[in-house]
Amino acid sequence: MKVDILTLFPGMFEGVLNESIIGRAQKNGLIELNYINIRDFADNKHNRVDDYPYGGGQGMVMQAQPIFAAYNYICKDIGKKPYTIYMSPQGRSFRQSTAKRLAKKEHIVILCGHYEGVDQRILDEIIDEEISIGDYVLTGGEIAAMAVVDATARLIPGVLASAGSFSEESHYSGLLEYPQYTRPAVWNGREVPSVLQSGNHKLIMQWKREKSIENTYKKRKGMLRRAKLSDKEREFVKNLEKNC
Ligand code: ADE
Repeated sequence: MKVDILTLFPGMFEGVLNESIIGRAQKNGLIELNYINIRDFADNKHNRVDDYPYGGGQGMVMQAQPIFAAYNYICKDIGKKPYTIYMSPQGRSFRQSTAKRLAKKEHIVILCGHYEGVDQRILDEIIDEEISIGDYVLTGGEIAAMAVVDATARLIPGVLASAGSFSEESHYSGLLEYPQYTRPAVWNGREVPSVLQSGNHKLIMQWKREKSIENTYKKRKGMLRRAKLSDKEREFVKNLEKNC
C-alpha cells in the first residue's frame, strides 16, 4: 500500500511512523509512506500557503493553489485519481471498520489541514472522504493522519506477525478484548486467573470469550447491542445485568 501525505509539517511524521511495527513494515516494502510538503508547491516568492478568510473571522485559511499543485504532482505518474482523504473534526468518525476498508486500497492520499482550515474549493475538487479521529479539535490534521495510517497499516497482511494478532483484539469482532497476563504468576499479591495456567485449551477459550463479553458490558455497553452473540452468550449478559 502506498500513502502520500500532504502536509505543511512533514517533520512531524518520521519519528512516529519510522519506529516499531510501521517502521518495519516500511523496511519490508509492505507499506510506502511519502510526505509531500505543500509549501514546496507555493507559486509565490515567499512560499506563502495561507491567507485571510473571506468574510472575516479568526485565523488564516490554507489556499487551494499549493495543495492542488502538490496533489497533481502525486497524480501525474499514476494517471488516475487516488482515493483522497481530508483529516477534519467535521469528518465521519474513524473506526476499526474504516481502517479495514482503507487497508484494502492500493494507494491513498491524506490531506492534513492546519490553521483555521482549508479553502472549501480544494476540498470539493479532490476529496473523497473526510475523517475525524474524535470530537475534539487538534491544531492540525497531522496527529490524526498518523493514527489513521497506524491503525490501517497494521491490518495489511504481513505487517503483524500473524492474522490472529488482530482477529481477537478489541473492536475487531465488535467486542473489547479479554484481559491479558504475563509472568510472573503472582505479582504484588495478585494472581493470574488459574484457568489461564491450567493448560485446558477449551476452558481457556471459553474464559476468554466470557471475559471479552464482560469487559464490553462493563466498559462499552452500547457495543454489546450490535455484537454477534449466541443465545447462551445473551443469557450470560442477562446474568451480568442481574449481578451488577
Ligand atoms: N484536525 C483537527 N482536529 C481533528 C480531528 N479531531 N480529527 C481529524 N482531523 C483533525
